[in-house]
Amino acid sequence: MNIIDGKEIAKNLRLKIADEVKALERPPGLAVILVGEDPASAVYVRNKELACKQAGFFSDKIIKSENITEEQLLEEVERLNNNPHIDGILVQLPLPSHINANKVIEHISPFKDVDGFHSENIGKLMQNKSHLRPCTPKGVMTMLDSVNCKVEGMNCVVIGASNIVGRPMAMELLNARGTVTICNSKTKDVAEKVRQADIVVVGVGIPQMVKGDWIKEGAIVIDVGINRLEDGSLVGDVDFDAIKDIAGGITPVPGGVGPMTIATLLENTLIAYKQNL
Ligand code: GUN
Repeated sequence: MNIIDGKEIAKNLRLKIADEVKALERPPGLAVILVGEDPASAVYVRNKELACKQAGFFSDKIIKSENITEEQLLEEVERLNNNPHIDGILVQLPLPSHINANKVIEHISPFKDVDGFHSENIGKLMQNKSHLRPCTPKGVMTMLDSVNCKVEGMNCVVIGASNIVGRPMAMELLNARGTVTICNSKTKDVAEKVRQADIVVVGVGIPQMVKGDWIKEGAIVIDVGINRLEDGSLVGDVDFDAIKDIAGGITPVPGGVGPMTIATLLENTLIAYKQNL
């Protein structure tokens, strides 16, 4: 069994960032906007705020009613774009259906877009010249690096093609010179594709979708899924128990990719701070 301890890797990254922050003239500032009362989003936002405080960042948590209009939210973003104490702006997704999330993301200054979701930053990711890269895929790359997993020349299979995980993940792996297959909900015989993979990254939100007999001996398996079962327990998108003794490395849920996403958000905020000086 070879567990990839995201919690530990993230802790070390956060300590390194906190150390760097001590030497700065002013703390890097992150604003997080939460609209509505989605309980999962509230937990994510709380964890982001806590991580900011621990690293010595200035953190501004802005909570808005789910009745906020799109125009009011755009005005809030504009205010933060112009606030010199704020280096990073994150609008927690999903947003209520009456608000066009894409419009809100595009309104964030690309220089403060610590999620890396603005089309300008996604475009730069495609060209392999980005400064602000989406946190979850970037955090996965940091994890692979810290367990000495080389991507170059490897067969990589990404399951899921979302804007937050699958698409930028595939581009990160390509930028690292992997050979990348992206599966979506219409892909035929996903199992057969996964059997060819040296590195598998899954982010679909289907509990334990990836089975033990899909995994090649020694493959690295990265599980981005977080699913709550009826009994209250958390599981990922892969069948951890069936895979853990076959894979060369596997991330647990919780304690795998999740902590890396938060540490990478701090890393991005520090990059934005330096870029905006
Ligand atoms: N909701 C789920 N994941 C994310 C993320 O990485 N960023 C934002 N803003 N919202 C999310």
